[in-house]
Amino acid sequence: MCGIVAAVAQRNVVPILLEGLKRLEYRGYDSAGLAVSTDDKEIKSVRKAGKVNHLTEQVKEDNLIGTTGIAHTRWATHGQPTAENAHPHCSGGTIMVVHNGIIENHEVLRQKLINAGYTFSSQTDTEVIAHLIAYYQKENHPLSEVVKQAVTCLEGAYSIAVMDRLSPGKIIAARSGSPLVLGVGIEEYFIASDPLALLPVTHQFQFLEEGDLVEITTSQATIYDQQGKQVQRPVATDHFEFDSAEKGNFKHYMLKEIHEQPEAINNTLEGRITENRILPQSFGCDAEKLLKEIDTVQIVACGTSYHSAMIARYWFETFGIACQVEIASEFRYRNIVVPKRCLFVTLSQSGETADTLSALRLAKKLGYASTLTICNVHGSSLVRESAMVCMTRAGAEIGVASTKAFTTQLTALLMLATVTGRLNGTVDAKQESTIAQALHKLPGLVKSALTLKNSIQHLAADFSHKQHALFLGRGTMYPLALEGALKLKEISYIHAEAYAAGELKHGPLALIDVDMPVIVIAPKNALLEKLKSNIEEVSARGGQLYVFADRSANLTETNCMKVIHMDTVPDIITPMICSVPLQLLAYEVAVIKGTDIDQPRNLAKSVTVE
Ligand code: M6R
Repeated sequence: MCGIVAAVAQRNVVPILLEGLKRLEYRGYDSAGLAVSTDDKEIKSVRKAGKVNHLTEQVKEDNLIGTTGIAHTRWATHGQPTAENAHPHCSGGTIMVVHNGIIENHEVLRQKLINAGYTFSSQTDTEVIAHLIAYYQKENHPLSEVVKQAVTCLEGAYSIAVMDRLSPGKIIAARSGSPLVLGVGIEEYFIASDPLALLPVTHQFQFLEEGDLVEITTSQATIYDQQGKQVQRPVATDHFEFDSAEKGNFKHYMLKEIHEQPEAINNTLEGRITENRILPQSFGCDAEKLLKEIDTVQIVACGTSYHSAMIARYWFETFGIACQVEIASEFRYRNIVVPKRCLFVTLSQSGETADTLSALRLAKKLGYASTLTICNVHGSSLVRESAMVCMTRAGAEIGVASTKAFTTQLTALLMLATVTGRLNGTVDAKQESTIAQALHKLPGLVKSALTLKNSIQHLAADFSHKQHALFLGRGTMYPLALEGALKLKEISYIHAEAYAAGELKHGPLALIDVDMPVIVIAPKNALLEKLKSNIEEVSARGGQLYVFADRSANLTETNCMKVIHMDTVPDIITPMICSVPLQLLAYEVAVIKGTDIDQPRNLAKSVTVE
């Protein structure tokens, strides 16, 4: 999704803006631009299709320098990813605007502004905002008031940063539906979509709330709430010490993040489990009381987070708690019948996924017993708007393909299911102790699963020329198969499908031939024998099988079946362990195919629009 960076300082802000944009690349974008001004009321801008590197070259060529500036990476929604549609958008050579989100009433506003004599030079919804601000601008009217008036006309979701040639040294930013953070420096202030963009210049942040508008100059930052009242927002200084925006020795962020999983899971668990118990306070101060008051759970999420939810349903049900899971974009448009004493849970890496956030807001209106989010980003909208919170503490995930966010979410979900079961009398102390002990082993077991990298590297060559792949699993390995297929398709662009293995003969078996690799996840559990029958069904039809199997599963290689042996691990934590080889497989295939692994085509890291 689009990214905003803005700065007001006494030094040249161009390097700060460019570095900020580089750090927001992970969100996904297809063009970039910036505008800067100096005290002599001159404003200059550069916009380029393609990568931030192209913008940087042009900025150098044009020798752009300024002490006030706004910058943007655009993910096209209205109009092609061209330089003309890239931000900043300008009105009358004075007002410059960058914008994240979607203005739903842009056509009506565009017509109104054309009738008033404004000329449009792009196909974007954003240009409407620039002209609207110019339309409301009157002599001696403070820019903040003009922007405030303009945004009241906007319907949809936005975060914006605005500068005016006639108000040098000043930036106005506002948010409604899209995230924005204020970075506090010494006689300099910054705005960004994500604190990560600003870590080289500050570790002090104030997260803007819905409807907030902020004015920054070198001397101060003044925040106004939706009602126009001057307000303070808490300053967050911790959690940003570790700058995980660096790739280190890894070739890609995705590979680095796959390898960070043992440590990330350790962080998720830290201080939350004793030798034999999982602490309810892991989910918030009131969690013990609130979780006792629920009978059922509804989980809502998107993409990889939705796959975590599907796995968690097996756990909740194993522990005697009824659980429903649903994709957020479906949940928000259904007529929901709210069960009594039902906990509403959202899962999200970013905490800003538009559909998940809207689902939470809807759930609060519908009257669920309570809300809880499992999330990786401090200060994000889901975190601020949920009654209970469990931070996954995975560290910044930059690769668009989610990896450590997934396994840490699963870890938190297993803790939640166990605690909820215990508080409701369906999980006993012995069961809880077994799970706690398995969780203690988890980081080490994930670490040893990472050693499969070399054998998976060899396997990957078999996939690089394939057009399609099929993933199969049973029980919790079925949603894991869905996740394996999602990973492969998003970074290698190979069409991949996943099925519950029992569904094979109800249709997908027709697809099996020598060109269809079939990946099977076969831990040693109660469903292994049934899965073996499904493996037979595939090999009898000439399918090429790749089986990730427990060492003790007694599966041996044949001409049409390669077996990758995995350690025997406690059954309850197999989803976290088995996700590692699937992530590595997708990664190694993508390396051979030479795709843009960290920023796959057409995808964004944080999907803040519907
Ligand atoms: O930030 P979230 O977890 O809410 O994001 C949800 C999905 O957009 C995300 O998981 C997406 O599917 C990933 N690209 C998968 O790797």
